[in-house]
Amino acid sequence: MNRPLSRRDWLRISSAAAAALATARTSPLWSQDRPAAAAVDTSKLLVRSENPFNAEPTLADLVAEEVTPTDRFFIRSHGPTPKVDVKSYSLTVEGLVNKPLTLSLDEVKAKFAAHTLTASLTCAGNRRVEMARIKPISGVQWDAGAIGNATWTGAALAQILEAAEIQPGAKHVWFEGLDPIPEKDGSVAPFGGSIPLERALATTPPQGAGAKPAPGAIVAYAMNDAPLTADHGYPLRTVVPGFIGARSVKWLAKIVVSDRSSPNHYVAEAYKVVTEGTADEVARAEPIYEMPLNSVICLPAAGAKVTAGRVQVAGYALPSGKPRATVRRVELSTDGGKTWQDAKLRGEAVPGCWRLWEAEPMLAAGKHTLVVRATDSTGAVQPREFPWNLKGYLYSAWHRCEVQAG
Ligand code: MTE
Repeated sequence: MNRPLSRRDWLRISSAAAAALATARTSPLWSQDRPAAAAVDTSKLLVRSENPFNAEPTLADLVAEEVTPTDRFFIRSHGPTPKVDVKSYSLTVEGLVNKPLTLSLDEVKAKFAAHTLTASLTCAGNRRVEMARIKPISGVQWDAGAIGNATWTGAALAQILEAAEIQPGAKHVWFEGLDPIPEKDGSVAPFGGSIPLERALATTPPQGAGAKPAPGAIVAYAMNDAPLTADHGYPLRTVVPGFIGARSVKWLAKIVVSDRSSPNHYVAEAYKVVTEGTADEVARAEPIYEMPLNSVICLPAAGAKVTAGRVQVAGYALPSGKPRATVRRVELSTDGGKTWQDAKLRGEAVPGCWRLWEAEPMLAAGKHTLVVRATDSTGAVQPREFPWNLKGYLYSAWHRCEVQAG
């Protein structure tokens, strides 16, 4: 079957999974509410929606540290946070494999080498609130804080797939979570994602002297040297550096190797760039994978009053998700984009990883429009404008910030 699966097809295919979920929800494995253990200190986050829970840090907090502390890391969940009982939990690997696997958390840790890598996770809807100024967009009204940069530890997805022995014809790897997301028709279905097999098997250059090449995707059990919190996907999640956050599936319970991308709603229908949203347009659009090159001014805050003279300006820049792309240059303008000066880049140039930057321009008394743009190692320059789309994805136009110096 070559035509893309419709939502109805997908619901039919997933009805067995939904039925299993409905049964499972009555077991102690499930909790419909955000479990108490999930409660990070939300006083450090701006809550965008309580149910499902979506929150982001202030932009000033976001760039306070190169590695984002977990309690200042954005949370983006489409449904209730499942409370997973690790004793009955398992991860299955199936589909186009010779040896299907069922692994407990301990087995994932024991059977596969641990890889630690630093990677940024960014929601495709980051900066939606700016795109929505062109024309309103529904959905979580994210400012520019739906991004974080953490260290992740886990097994290389490639090694898990190797143990399962991939069959010829495999092209995509699907991920399925344990969160029961309510559907419009009253049923529940898990969140899912998928990535091309090529990315699952890829490696990126070593991070640091003496390090081995980093895997292109991992099945992570730790974030910032601690077990994943419930909000961030305990006990296991995928982390796919450079790809939109939606492909880093939390509460991971199933991996399926396939000849096509996942029929899950969040791959087959959502997370696509469309303008009308007709069934035909959605069916024809490709799922989004790579993040675009981006940069943002986090300090001073938009509309801030600053003292005239040298002003501290800081922010982040994200390379595109193209293999091996890194941030090479960040430029700041204080006159709305007519003239530019180089900002100072902090940290190392690592694919899939943001770079914090800072500048100290001289601002005379009066109103100024600060603008930032980034260039990455592929030579790509962040665009001045970015076209509106129905879901508000991938906004990456030059970031502007009006300040009043006095
Ligand atoms: N995985 C599951 N199971 N359910 C979800 O709702 N949200 C996705 C992804 N993985 C999601 C998920 C989206 S859209 C993003 S941006 C990231 O998780 C956010 O990860 P975080 O909450 O750890 O920051």
